[in-house]
Amino acid sequence: MSIIEKALAKQKNKMEVTVDDESQQASSEVSVDKIKKPSNNRTLTLDIENLNQRGFLVDNANRKSVNEEFRQIKRKLLTNAFGLASKTLNHSNLIMISSSKPNEGKTFVSINLALSIALEQDKTVLLIDADVLRPSIDRELGFETNSGLVEYLLGEEDDISNTICSTNIEKLKIIPAGQPHYLSNELLASDRMVSLASELANRYPDRIVIFDSPPLIGVSETLVLANLMGQALIVVEESKTLLSDINKATENLNEDLAIGLILNKAIRSHKDLYGYYGYGYGTKN
Ligand SMILES: Nc1ncnc2c1ncn2[C@@H]1O[C@H](COP(=O)(O)OP(=O)(O)OP(=O)(O)O)[C@@H](O)[C@H]1O
Ligand SMILES: [Mg+2]
Repeated sequence: MSIIEKALAKQKNKMEVTVDDESQQASSEVSVDKIKKPSNNRTLTLDIENLNQRGFLVDNANRKSVNEEFRQIKRKLLTNAFGLASKTLNHSNLIMISSSKPNEGKTFVSINLALSIALEQDKTVLLIDADVLRPSIDRELGFETNSGLVEYLLGEEDDISNTICSTNIEKLKIIPAGQPHYLSNELLASDRMVSLASELANRYPDRIVIFDSPPLIGVSETLVLANLMGQALIVVEESKTLLSDINKATENLNEDLAIGLILNKAIRSHKDLYGYYGYGYGTKN
């Protein structure tokens, strides 16, 4: 049994959390002290209630099980980023979210993790839409901007801080993907990306930086990007992602990277057909 298979098996055994119907209800409860009024024109106003209704975790008391599952993942990520383990990782606060193939939930997981770290842990989170060929954080969060990561990597923006958007959630900052460009994926493997990773790790060492990234299979630049990170979370879609694809996606990742697997869209019983939950954390090491 490979390391990844063992991690998956371990993860499956842990998938015992159940969520009752109540937990599926939307709630618009948010802690007001953490919501800020926009202060400049690079401030995005996120529609918290709408996000909440669409299943994103926004301090939602009715989704306790999902919160708890994310909490466990978060704890591990934060320990890796800032605890003892951080000394053994390069750029420990940079976390890539990827998967073997498209549509397995990378953006959903990236947004949820960013929201829950920003709201519950009081840590500043920078969420970067690095899926530059198929960006979707803007669509999912409901905002439009003119420039972002692509413009910085092309050299059209000199200072990365000009591309950072504040949001009405005080601890959440976002770098959107920017405009479509024919070289977009290649830009992820550019020298400018290498120096950006160092800058983000050194200029904002107390921040968690989450990269919503392209899939690993079929986009060779994702592997290059992964090697600039301290941590990677690989989203696995239950009953859909093939073990062979997980192996293929992870076999060339840097040995020094802290790698976690997230089992997404787990359905525990036929009664719970809409039950999208069930996250677990397994490490390659
Ligand atoms: N745990 C979940 N609960 C509810 N909906 C989910 C969950 N995970 C993913 N989805 C939904 O599944 C669809 C695909 O998810 P998402 O866009 O996050 O995948 P992706 O891996 O980022 O896709 P792409 O490769 O196109 O970027 C979306 O409509 C998303 O809202
Ligand atoms: Mg996506």
